[in-house]
Amino acid sequence: MKNTRIVFWALCLFFCSAEAGEGKDCVSSSVKAAYWPSIKISLMPPASINAPLYSHILYGFAQMNNHTFKLEGEKMMADFTATVQKKNPCVKTLISINGGGSNALALALMTTNPIHRAVFIKSAIALARRHAFHGLDLDWEFPTNTTEMENLGNLFSEWRHAINLESRSSGRPPLLLTAAVYYAHTFVIYGEHRSYPTASIAKNLDWVNVMCYDYKGSWDTSATGAHAVLYDHSSNISSSYGITSWIESGLPPEKLVMGMPLYGKSWVLKSQNQTGIGAPAVAAGPKQSTSDESGIMFYSEITDFVREKHATEVFDTESVSAYSYAGELWVGYDNPDCVAAKVKFAKKRGLLGYFFWAISQDSNWTLSTTALESWDKYL
Ligand SMILES: *[C@@H]1O[C@H](CO)[C@@H](O)[C@H](O)[C@H]1NC(C)=O
Ligand SMILES: *[C@@H]1O[C@H](CO)[C@@H](O)[C@H](O)[C@H]1NC(C)=O
Ligand SMILES: *[C@@H]1O[C@H](CO)[C@@H](O)[C@H](O)[C@H]1NC(C)=O
Ligand SMILES: *[C@@H]1O[C@H](CO)[C@@H](O)[C@H](O)[C@H]1NC(C)=O
Ligand SMILES: *[C@@H]1O[C@H](CO)[C@@H](O)[C@H](O)[C@H]1NC(C)=O
Repeated sequence: MKNTRIVFWALCLFFCSAEAGEGKDCVSSSVKAAYWPSIKISLMPPASINAPLYSHILYGFAQMNNHTFKLEGEKMMADFTATVQKKNPCVKTLISINGGGSNALALALMTTNPIHRAVFIKSAIALARRHAFHGLDLDWEFPTNTTEMENLGNLFSEWRHAINLESRSSGRPPLLLTAAVYYAHTFVIYGEHRSYPTASIAKNLDWVNVMCYDYKGSWDTSATGAHAVLYDHSSNISSSYGITSWIESGLPPEKLVMGMPLYGKSWVLKSQNQTGIGAPAVAAGPKQSTSDESGIMFYSEITDFVREKHATEVFDTESVSAYSYAGELWVGYDNPDCVAAKVKFAKKRGLLGYFFWAISQDSNWTLSTTALESWDKYL
């Protein structure tokens, strides 16, 4: 066992530049990340990921067994890091846990009990190390009340402690620890107020991935909507408001990574004469072939739609959002102009970086490339 390790490290000195992603040429002061949904592997096998466009790739998702509280792996994890590092030896990988639409109640239950938390943490660290990931990300959507937020803070603190211990005993750099969070620091859903545990986050996480999207959607079919606006002067539902709320809560900007969508939200227009943001609508847009969910269009599907239907495309500078329409179909999304403006905003505010959901939805890597170039352009 020991000998194999030594041989491995000797080989690695030549082939993986020390520990891949941690060599001295791999120092990255910013985060340019994207989530890769394993459920959509057919759209984007790991070997097809254009890894040089990203500093970090998040494998989504691993699930916790709700009886044992252990994190469970997927077969595809085994080669993931090695595969994406073939194209970019510096890219780092994280396992993202849970995800939107997954069992949030099970996480709530696990976090109430210190013994269950310890089991979960130990299994998560072991899973990341077993498959050569560089970190772990928790995507709990969402803690429902103040107690759950406190438990989340306890989880982060014990998790960081365990990660530091593991790093000391293994002699390896500590695993990254991050979380995907709501666009605003304090929020109300179903009448329940809650705030994230900023002090614990600042102390224990490397950063948070702020989900600055899904502000509008098929739950309201009466009007079209821009689902990831940077600005909205008439409400607090905007990325600038959300990011500011995080900073005002006391989280240093360099712990914030701003999310951008690689998908749009679509509606069926009521009248082809009213085509703006907030125009009357009658239904969510129809399912498309790859996104396969009504009211959703991937950016790749949107660029096809614009080209094939000769759709009119508008960049709304006031909200920083784009929309296109042709016939009765309307879709709101981020185009390259939006991405450039948002990246500039993130950089001006001193944020650590940006991330995309999700890697398989871009159109010929256009938005990912725009973001990368914009980040490096604005000083
Ligand atoms: C536990 O998971 C199973 C299967 O994944 C699910 O059917 C069940 O509802 C879950 N139980 C709880 C308490 O979340
Ligand atoms: C918070 O929600 C949990 C359900 O996850 C519930 O058991 C608990 O009583 C709630 N706490 C408060 C203070 O409302
Ligand atoms: C927006 O948030 C601020 C506090 O950050 C609050 O005072 C104000 O009432 C909110 N406005 C709306 C329209 O919700
Ligand atoms: C659009 O407006 C024109 C002129 O106002 C009107 O004649 C036409 O019926 C309208 N079309 C629709 C689809 O509402
Ligand atoms: C995709 O992008 C590459 C590089 O920017 C470009 O050369 C190629 O023509 C694009 N392909 C399509 C189908 O747009």
